[in-house]
Amino acid sequence: MTTVPEVRARKGSAPLVMVTAYDSPGARAADEAGVDLLLVGDSVAMTVLGYPDTLHVTVEDMVHHTAAVARAKPAALIVADLPWLSYHTSRRDAVSNAGRLVRAGARAVKLEGGRKRVAVVEALVDAEIPVMGHLGLTPQSFHAMGGFKVQGKGLDAARQVIDDAKALDAAGCFAVVLEGIPTEVARLVTDNIEIPTIGIGAGPSCDGQVLVWHDVLGFGGGDYAVAPKFVRRYADLRSAAIEGIAAYAADVRSRAFPSDSESYHLRPDVAEALL
Ligand code: KIV
Repeated sequence: MTTVPEVRARKGSAPLVMVTAYDSPGARAADEAGVDLLLVGDSVAMTVLGYPDTLHVTVEDMVHHTAAVARAKPAALIVADLPWLSYHTSRRDAVSNAGRLVRAGARAVKLEGGRKRVAVVEALVDAEIPVMGHLGLTPQSFHAMGGFKVQGKGLDAARQVIDDAKALDAAGCFAVVLEGIPTEVARLVTDNIEIPTIGIGAGPSCDGQVLVWHDVLGFGGGDYAVAPKFVRRYADLRSAAIEGIAAYAADVRSRAFPSDSESYHLRPDVAEALL
C-alpha cells in the first residue's frame, strides 16, 4: 500500500502518477493499472454530478465518494479533496471536516491556496492528517479568478506561486498540485521546494502528473464535453458506452434479447402441471 512518506520520498525520482477516482469500479481499474495516488477530487461535481463547477460539492458528497473509492481497497494512496467552505471558516472546521474524510477512507486531504492556508495546513498536520496543497488555477477560486484561466503568467503572479509553494512546503504539506501555470513557473517551483509537485496543465518538469479519470478515458459529454489542451485522451469510453447501450436497445426492440440461454426455466414436470 502506497504511503504518504513514500510519496514524499519520490521527490526528484520516478514520476508520480495520480488520477481522480469517484467510485469503486473506477478506483479498482486505476489501481490495477498501477497508479500511485487516487484523488477523490471535488471535480466529481462536474464529471459525475452534472454541476457547472466544483463549488456545489459538500463534505457529505465527498465522504460518500471517498468511502466508495476506499471500498475498492486500492494499493494507491487515497487523497480526498476538502470541498469549498469546508476549511475556510476556521481551523476547527477544517480539522473536523478532514477527519470525516479520513474516517471515510482517505489517507490524506487536499486543499487549495497558498500562504493564506498556512494556519489551516499546520492545524491539519498537527492533527496527524497529511495535506496535499493545490496552487495555480484553483477551481474553488473560479469566481475570484474570473473563470478557468491559466495563472502565474506575469512576473508578480509567477513569484506569488513560488512563494505560496515554499509556504506550503514549510507548513508541512507532503506534496503540492500545480494546476494551469506556465511550464517555466512549475519548473522553478519544483526546483525550489523539498516536496513533490504534481502537475496538471503545468508542463513536464513536475515530479508527477495528475489527470481527471473522465478526461483520460473520454467519458465526458453534455456540459462536460470540452477538455482543456493539457488533457491527453487515452480511450473513448463515451463512444463505446453509446454503442453498447444502442446495441442493447436494438436487441430489446427486435426481441433478440434475452435469448433462451439468458432466461430461467421451470423443471419440465412443474411446467407441464402449471401450463
Ligand atoms: O478535483 C480535481 O480533480 C482536482 C485535480 C484537477 C487536481 O483537484
